Amino acid sequence: MAELLTVDARHPDRDTIARAAACLRAGGLVAFPTETVYGLGAHALDAVAVRRIFEAKGRPASDPLIVHVGDVADLAPLVHEVPPIVHALAARFWPGPLTLVLRRAAVVPPEVTAGGETVAVRVPSHPVARALLAAAGVPIAAPSANLFSRPSPTQAAHVAHDLGDRVDLIVDGGSTTIGVESTVLDLTSVPPVVLRPGGVSLEALREVVPDVRVRQVEADEGDTQVSPGLLLRHYSPRTPLTLVDGHDLVARIAAEARARLSTDVRRLVVLASSGVLAGVRSALASAPAPGEAVGHAGRLTFVDLGPDADLDALAAGLYARLREADALGADLILAGQVPGDAGIALAVRDRLHRAAAGRVLIG
Ligand code: TXA
Ligand code: MG
Repeated sequence: MAELLTVDARHPDRDTIARAAACLRAGGLVAFPTETVYGLGAHALDAVAVRRIFEAKGRPASDPLIVHVGDVADLAPLVHEVPPIVHALAARFWPGPLTLVLRRAAVVPPEVTAGGETVAVRVPSHPVARALLAAAGVPIAAPSANLFSRPSPTQAAHVAHDLGDRVDLIVDGGSTTIGVESTVLDLTSVPPVVLRPGGVSLEALREVVPDVRVRQVEADEGDTQVSPGLLLRHYSPRTPLTLVDGHDLVARIAAEARARLSTDVRRLVVLASSGVLAGVRSALASAPAPGEAVGHAGRLTFVDLGPDADLDALAAGLYARLREADALGADLILAGQVPGDAGIALAVRDRLHRAAAGRVLIG
């Protein structure tokens, strides 16, 4: 098992960080918290170390990694050029949950970029990530520290669960705060394109890049060309998950739950925001399925995704709730989509959509 080093998230102990940094510099794999999710780090310029990331995650070599640096000034050696827009974006969003795709410099190993001519870079804001970057003195390549296609880890325990026997160290800095990954912005296309919605909202990006576009295509499993993280089946629990979207979520979820429990599903999890969940509970309680006077006791579990009116809080717990729902070992998770497209909503909707791998019912 990996060694677990616990640190204070705001003031990480220097000696502990120094140990983790030494491990990274020596080619080791170190999982550490960022403000978005836990990353699985390796020395970004050490091709052998980077290859270990792919082996540990079971990630296809065709899926490129994000390189983390301590400051925008550390970017220059990694990229072909630093266009002026980078400085404008960095001034506004770095350190923070924005990843920029730029043309790479030759020093970046092809393992990091999946053989491509671009490299994704970001400056994280989490004090532990920053301390680690400063102590290591090298760029750190780090995907989310989960098994490939599973929900990203937002707690050290999630990393230990997925990768405990495959990494050298896990730096435990508690729960991450944002809870969904960084926004990936491709600056090599004109106009720039958001490849993955994330911690930085589209509205905020528009203030710096007014003509920014969002990649709308629902990539299928075979499309690994632009951003493999856009694979439709991504962030998925093992339990099949069906997503319910639309205006009448409560009625649609309740009807679907009733129908499935009286046919092919023995154990069902309903996963939705607090308000929707309350509605579904009472709908199911007041109108049990035929022959089920006492409801679906023991066969139905409710998992609360978080407050309807505070999507930032919901996002922070999203992956932990998905993992909890998955651990119940049900036959099906019926999840309620969240509404809206402002702030973090785009990212949350995207992750739920991908968790469903295309199984979406419109209510
Ligand atoms: O918040 C985050 O971004 C976290 C933390 C650890 O920094 N990292 C993360 O990494 O989510 P990962 O590997 O799970 O997702 C990186 C995404 C993938 O969708 C990948 O395909 C895309 O960024 N990406 C990486 N390099 C790229 C490139 N050169 N061009 C296009 N997309 C790229
Ligand atoms: Mg990932």
